[in-house]
Amino acid sequence: MKEIVDRIQELKKKHNAVILAHYYQIPEIQAVADMVGDSYGLSKKSADTDADVIVFCGVKFMAESAKILSPEKTVILPNMDAGCPMADMITAEDVKKLKKQYPDAAFVCYVNTSAEVKAECDVCCTSSNSVKIVNSLEQKRIVFLPDKNLGRYVAENAENKEVITVDGYCPVHDIIVAGQVLEAKEKYPGAPFLVHPECPDDVIELADFVGSTTQILNQAGEVEAKTIIVGTEDGILYKLKEQNPDKEFVMVSSNFVCDDMKKTTLNDLLMAFESLEASKPINVIELDEEIRSKAQASLDRMLELS
Ligand code: 13P
Ligand code: SF4
Repeated sequence: MKEIVDRIQELKKKHNAVILAHYYQIPEIQAVADMVGDSYGLSKKSADTDADVIVFCGVKFMAESAKILSPEKTVILPNMDAGCPMADMITAEDVKKLKKQYPDAAFVCYVNTSAEVKAECDVCCTSSNSVKIVNSLEQKRIVFLPDKNLGRYVAENAENKEVITVDGYCPVHDIIVAGQVLEAKEKYPGAPFLVHPECPDDVIELADFVGSTTQILNQAGEVEAKTIIVGTEDGILYKLKEQNPDKEFVMVSSNFVCDDMKKTTLNDLLMAFESLEASKPINVIELDEEIRSKAQASLDRMLELS
């Protein structure tokens, strides 16, 4: 494994590349990344980096967002099969129909969407800034796409907004049930439950803290408790343990895994770099320029309002 990592580092330097990884990636990928972050932090980094090549270890919508924000850069998704089932639950055609139905509404899309959907919306948001973004809009009526759970969380926490949602959801977070939280709380009395807003409402009601992956990580560092119940995908344990060696982390479910996030291997990363070295880069994100520039307006607006 050391040989693979050394070769990746060598080629990364040679091609002025940056490796970005989401917290749900496998530990070997997180260990080799220049930055591990949540969707918001990784989007910001993609917009700000002076690297020529962004190798994005995450799922497709994340690499697409990097390309939308940095069109002049080569953006590579090392494993092109890594998608997000929730992002596939809404299409640009669906948004166009909804716009006819709700002509006076602002359209807010979760960053977990395709470039085509972003291009049809007024502004993007992530789980770290959804309430803030919605509060900053002048329209009272908001169509929030596609996560019904995050949409409901926004509806409950935004000020004086009417939030319309559709039936999208994250198959990994949506299957968590309140009984699992109650069981963990009973087993670990006093342990705070930190949860991602993609979970259903009865799970969120039992939370001591609700936030994005980065926000969960920050909160875990701040709380005094030595045992913490984790309500998000298990990849986050790598950074939770690294940053809090004195704390114990208990997953609310023993099977809290996003298969798509686990698809990217060190070998995929190596193959991507070797293809750059051979001047035949593989798994490069390409977007139609009209769609890209419209989608950029939604992402830029999010970055401005955050
Ligand atoms: P974060 O924005 O919290 O990183 O979440 C991304 C995601 O896909 C959660 O399932
Ligand atoms: Fe998509 Fe859910 Fe996986 Fe996040 S955890 S990438 S929302 S399927």
